[in-house]
Amino acid sequence: MFVSKDLSINEKNHLVIGKNDTVELAKQFGTPLYVMDEELIRENCRVYKSAIDKYYNGNGLVLYANKAFCTVYTCKIAAEEGLGADVVSGGELYTAIKAGFPMDRIYFHGNNKTAEELEMAVSNGVGHIIVDNIYELEMLNEIAKAHGVVQDIMFRIKPGIDAHTHDFVRTGQIDSKFGVALENGEAFEIYEKAHNMSNVNPDGLHCHIGSQIFDVAPFCEAAEVMMNFAGDLKDKLGLEIKKLNLGGGYGIMYTENDDPVPYDEYIKHVSEVVKETAEKRGLNIPFILMEPGRSIVAPAGITLYTIGGIKDIKNVRKYVSVDGGMGDNPRYILYESKYAAVVANKAGDKATDKVTVAGKCCESGDILLNDTMLAPVEVGDTLAVLATGAYNYSMASNYNRIPRPAVVAVNNGEAKVVVKRESYEDLIKNDIF
Ligand code: LLP
Repeated sequence: MFVSKDLSINEKNHLVIGKNDTVELAKQFGTPLYVMDEELIRENCRVYKSAIDKYYNGNGLVLYANKAFCTVYTCKIAAEEGLGADVVSGGELYTAIKAGFPMDRIYFHGNNKTAEELEMAVSNGVGHIIVDNIYELEMLNEIAKAHGVVQDIMFRIKPGIDAHTHDFVRTGQIDSKFGVALENGEAFEIYEKAHNMSNVNPDGLHCHIGSQIFDVAPFCEAAEVMMNFAGDLKDKLGLEIKKLNLGGGYGIMYTENDDPVPYDEYIKHVSEVVKETAEKRGLNIPFILMEPGRSIVAPAGITLYTIGGIKDIKNVRKYVSVDGGMGDNPRYILYESKYAAVVANKAGDKATDKVTVAGKCCESGDILLNDTMLAPVEVGDTLAVLATGAYNYSMASNYNRIPRPAVVAVNNGEAKVVVKRESYEDLIKNDIF
């Protein structure tokens, strides 16, 4: 019935996440509130990890893509589950460092890392830096030299795969700001250049074709393109890669119209392609890396709101306003993303009312769900928007000076605050009086 398997309904007709009554959570911690089910996050980590064991002889590492939801808490979970981490900024790296994340399992991405960020990565012993361009390569070599280290690196390659997803989250095609291209020789050039540098050690390739992708085929295609490029590197330059990082992007179920592939299927099929192409091209089977973000945390999260004003504009639309909106979930205003929602205190009631759920920002586009069916709502009801665990908290803003909600983690009936609700004082803490 629900898009996420950790949701159920109790005897009070309340929505339950894990073993926690969401109406009670809303009362105890206030709204808006991000709620994350720790058990499900851990379970998702394990699905990927065991797929690598099963289909690829354990010769790989799953990296949790922090951009989906980056906190000390999630870094600790990923570390405890034996995952590595994809970080994409000094801020994400800082969070991982503070969480005590093993630095050798960190892969640092980004199309425009600054000198300060590279300095921070090198001095903290980050395992791999995914180099995006020549400018970065030269800067990194100098920084590593100054630190007297040889930094392991990979290159971000555009495999030329056009994945079917929203334009803003497609990244593997030629017209992309990320990485170096194959067809114009740029990728060869940068790999060879790095090979001849003293303080970087190129040992692999990386690609990421996009996000919220439902087909296995583009991932297989990308794997084949990358392995063929590895073959060309060996044939033409005599250089053999050790690692292949195939990025993230596996689609999840936001509404009943989404039909995701079981996560381990991606690894199963991609593993076959990598092994087959390695054999064809006379290459050693590379250590493989995958970088899921959304699929690990999105299904484990919900956001709870309190319903305020209800505006029934006859023959036009019924607006139901909540105490959050684009500040805590900007995905509708950015991508017109679709979500499912449930009136948490009437969770089993029939959804007979067509409404548009609006946020509280001064912006007409501040919508959370457009034309959605809910059980008849009243002021004061608790609304749960489902599958909000990825790219909600991490993309939240203080627009209209609205404080960001708290994050509560539930685990086996226990609930704890893992990120405090922002206060008004927090909002002005950097203002100069
Ligand atoms: N690796 C790299 C290099 C990436 O750029 C991304 C996502 C991932 C891994 C993780 O992808 P995932 O498994 O989470 O799909 N804000 C957008 C999503 C942007 C994704 C950017 N890169 C959204 O809300 O849909």
